[in-house]
Amino acid sequence: MDKQALEALLNDMSTEEKVMQLVQISGSEYEADAEITGIERGQVKDNVKRLAGSTLGIWGSKRLRKIQEQYISEHPHHIPLMFMLDVIHGHKTVLPCPLGQGATFDPDAVRKGAELQAREAAADGVHATFSPMADLCRDARWGRIMESTGEDKLLNSRMSKAMVEGYQGDDLKDPTHVAACVKHFAAYGAAEGGRDYNNTELSEHTLREYYLRAYGEAIKKNPVMVMSSFNSINGIPATGNQFLMKKILREEFGFQGVLISDWGAVGEMINHGFAEDQKDAALKGMMAGVDIDMCSGCYSAYLEELVNEGAVSMEMLDEAVLRVLNMKNDLGLFEDPYRGLTMESGPVITKESRQLAREAVTASLVLLENKENTLPLRKEKLAFVGPYADTKRLQSSWAFSGEDENTVTVWEAASEVCEPELIKLAVGCTMLDQDAMTAREICHVDHWQEKNDELLAEAIHAAKWADTVIICLGEDIAQSGEATSKASLKLPMVQLRLLNEMKKTGKKIVTLIFTGRPLELKEVRELSDALMVCWLPGTEGGHGVVDVLMGKASPSGRLSVSFPYTVGQEPLHYDMYPTGRPKPENGPGPYTSRYLDCENGALYPFGYGLSYTTFEYTDAKLSAQTMSASDTITASVTVRNTGDRKGSATVQLYVRDVTGSRVRPIRELADFKKISLEPGAEEKVSFTISEEMLRFWTAEEKWASEEGKFRVWICDNSCDGIPLEFQLKNR
Ligand code: NOJ
Repeated sequence: MDKQALEALLNDMSTEEKVMQLVQISGSEYEADAEITGIERGQVKDNVKRLAGSTLGIWGSKRLRKIQEQYISEHPHHIPLMFMLDVIHGHKTVLPCPLGQGATFDPDAVRKGAELQAREAAADGVHATFSPMADLCRDARWGRIMESTGEDKLLNSRMSKAMVEGYQGDDLKDPTHVAACVKHFAAYGAAEGGRDYNNTELSEHTLREYYLRAYGEAIKKNPVMVMSSFNSINGIPATGNQFLMKKILREEFGFQGVLISDWGAVGEMINHGFAEDQKDAALKGMMAGVDIDMCSGCYSAYLEELVNEGAVSMEMLDEAVLRVLNMKNDLGLFEDPYRGLTMESGPVITKESRQLAREAVTASLVLLENKENTLPLRKEKLAFVGPYADTKRLQSSWAFSGEDENTVTVWEAASEVCEPELIKLAVGCTMLDQDAMTAREICHVDHWQEKNDELLAEAIHAAKWADTVIICLGEDIAQSGEATSKASLKLPMVQLRLLNEMKKTGKKIVTLIFTGRPLELKEVRELSDALMVCWLPGTEGGHGVVDVLMGKASPSGRLSVSFPYTVGQEPLHYDMYPTGRPKPENGPGPYTSRYLDCENGALYPFGYGLSYTTFEYTDAKLSAQTMSASDTITASVTVRNTGDRKGSATVQLYVRDVTGSRVRPIRELADFKKISLEPGAEEKVSFTISEEMLRFWTAEEKWASEEGKFRVWICDNSCDGIPLEFQLKNR
């Protein structure tokens, strides 16, 4: 439909019809078995159901076709209904959770993963996905850290951009793509105390410099939608925050697409104490420029009244409605309201999609310890123990449509490649402690202690038989995602007990950690010969993990987030500010900025990860010692594979602005490249440093670089390397 036709359609619509384009209702209103995340079915009035412009949480071409047919036939202007869904790391084929995808340090692979997700979701009738989540996360207590690509603004920016590109492709009308939604705007990851939905308190500097960066970069790729966040920022809920939505999102970032609220967030402004009632909430949402009210019911109940009273102008309403109609038009829905709704049976997992997922797993695994080259495993007797050894719960709380039956467990994958007489399985313990507060999934086992004692006895038996014990531990999938904040980052006691008992058998211990967040691993490290983080790896989790255990693939992930010694260090991130009393590197440093009982930094820092081979970094240099604003400097290093296996190195460039009008972090990731090297091979890796990369939000409240000394590290992780130096001269 061309612009004039769209405007003519708008002009022909009644106020009620217009308002309803801005209303999103739960898919459960149309389908009894839809995903329900809070609101019961049957709560919306008939006219809302007949006219609401979009719905969420349902998929499947056959049933969506039926819903669409009925909807269009009843709609006065036959405007199609839009179907949205949270496809955040997979639809049928579930890829590693976003935190694991961040650990690949490979935006191209992430883009391909998003293309696959879009293809599968679109073939199931989905028009838009609520992804990527570009929230910066520095607090492991916040359960939604799993949905982010980590703690670094550059890594998050690159991954979020790649996801938008992958979901949307070049042409939204192409029925293998879906609209992307950058969320949750803004600073949702900064929730105080890591407690979900909590307030955030951020200076404008911190907001702009860190928290807004990845959204801003992703918006440069023209996502169709942005979602407002649940939290308030400096006392104003994001969903009613005009500074955020009007000044920053629309004016500064130039976002022209549809702004959608998070689920119920318009109405939650009442709970925040920011809106008096539903009518006031609807007004405040509109004033902030929220186009679609997701499921709070405020727009459907009061927006028409607000327009009739003149509190919301018709012009403002029209602008918002036109944005929604444009979205439908860009998706080609006016020409083909049944796009993606033609397949009889919907998308299926293919050999190719499995292969892509399997490679994504191996690229995301982070090897933290490998004492005396315990891994890869040799031909020997192996005992697979632990609650993650044979579970299909390898996806995540957001992988709605990924089916357990398609998921390959670690044990199943091991059984495919190992001789049966060389492997044994003994789960060893339950996933959670009996009194785990987050035990949504806990099975109500009578005689808890006896059950675990029995399981443990079996595991000890298997371990005594084996040469090496592969112990698969971690968080349950219901312990990360929305509303899963935790005040402890320890493994459940029952799992630690199993690990200790396995150690006592004297056998080699390979510990695999399945998790959606950083955990405290100090004790685990001490008890393990090899230690690897597997995240929540998805459909091909078992295959990917076993490929790496057996040496078919080398682990190449790097931590996308710092793993602390203890929860007391949170929020923890590598790009800290220096202090007036820095702790000396070696030595206790009384009266310096430190903890009495813990290191300042991480147990395993951002960017860290081992390989099955070793790399030597030599000849690190800068092409010049001074740089002007119009110049660039090349930073280069030669990386050599000094081991006897092929492997991937993730070469990281960090920069520090030594003196500024504002204190600058001790180092910040400025670029990275992942390279693959055969044994004995070497490669010169170069990075270009431009003046633009050195800009920050200065004391004068503007983006600028400042003259002076800069340090540069070209290295293997955020705590590694010897600094080089150059001077920036702006004139
Ligand atoms: C609430 C979550 O915060 C958001 O991320 C999600 O997209 C919506 N619900 C829709 O399911």
